[in-house]
Amino acid sequence: MKRYSIALIPGDGIGVDVIDAALPVLDAAGQRFGFALDTQSFPWSCRYYLEHGAMMPADGIDRLRGFDAIFLGAVGWPQTVPDAVSLHGLLLPIRKAFNQYANIRPHRLLAGVEGPLKASGFDILCIRENTEGEYAGAGGRVHQGAANEVAVETAIFTRAGVERILRFAFEQARLRRKHVTSVTKSNAQKYSMVFWDEMTRAVAADYPDIAVSHMHIDAMAARMVMAPESLDVVVASNLFGDILTDLGAAIQGGLGYAASANVCPDRSAPSMFEPVHGSAPDIAGQGVANPIAAIWSGAMMLDHLGEGAAAAAVLRAIEAVTARGIGVRPRSHSTAAIAAAVGAALAE
Ligand code: IPM
Ligand code: MN
Repeated sequence: MKRYSIALIPGDGIGVDVIDAALPVLDAAGQRFGFALDTQSFPWSCRYYLEHGAMMPADGIDRLRGFDAIFLGAVGWPQTVPDAVSLHGLLLPIRKAFNQYANIRPHRLLAGVEGPLKASGFDILCIRENTEGEYAGAGGRVHQGAANEVAVETAIFTRAGVERILRFAFEQARLRRKHVTSVTKSNAQKYSMVFWDEMTRAVAADYPDIAVSHMHIDAMAARMVMAPESLDVVVASNLFGDILTDLGAAIQGGLGYAASANVCPDRSAPSMFEPVHGSAPDIAGQGVANPIAAIWSGAMMLDHLGEGAAAAAVLRAIEAVTARGIGVRPRSHSTAAIAAAVGAALAE
């Protein structure tokens, strides 16, 4: 039997709830498809920070490096640790250290889930650049607190970084409906975004079978609401992709359905799979968080590990459950009940 080593980082808030709920479903998939997940859980979180003064140990990245994948719940507990500290201490360094430059986020309505839009037939795959751009971390503050204080945060776009995410998006489009929409703001940002547009045209030349559209981020926000079914693969910079994928989550019914994969495409390091929703302190520990985003992210992990049939079966099981009205509204069912129903559907 194939065995995969999985590092679990439940993290904070409902991250713990949904990882707990999702794991048995993935184990059930393993039983049915003949593989096992060997998991090791790491307590790295804001709670850990309060005890140790760091979100993870100094050798945390090295300890994760040997795993086949990382399954993460959520990071952040702003009541005790500022978000900029917790995220820069755990989530963001993992994405960068392991070169997880492709953040993949699917947006479509699951069977039985009603979104806020009239449109229902959309199926968008957002490819977000995940290691540089507006999240590069280049900047600083001087004269803090004084009237002449200055804060600078420079977005960094490298040729290598932009080219590889664009190529990744075009490759994904080949597996789908063969349309890439590249999102920038090149009418206002005349260096980085004009560069991105040029790179899009250069890469597109290698993919004559793929149709390409260029959109500005503001128009794109409107289009995702007005005509989401006109989109296939959407590729954007780190911050633009971050914003668009919360919009994507909204049109697919809510953050409880939004899955994501932080992928290191050359597989030189583990990739990381996490629901988009964050730690949701207001409902943490109540057993009411929707585990579907985490289970779907887990399915993306199985797919990445080479267990495509198991991944597809998990997604079918999710939709068999949502089609019956389970997990389709906030608090309609408990976290455990939704996950148990998915597990049962998987066994059928
Ligand atoms: C996400 C989150 C993170 C991001 C935050 C928590 C730093 O919003 O994964 O979308 O901006 O990447
Ligand atoms: Mn986000």
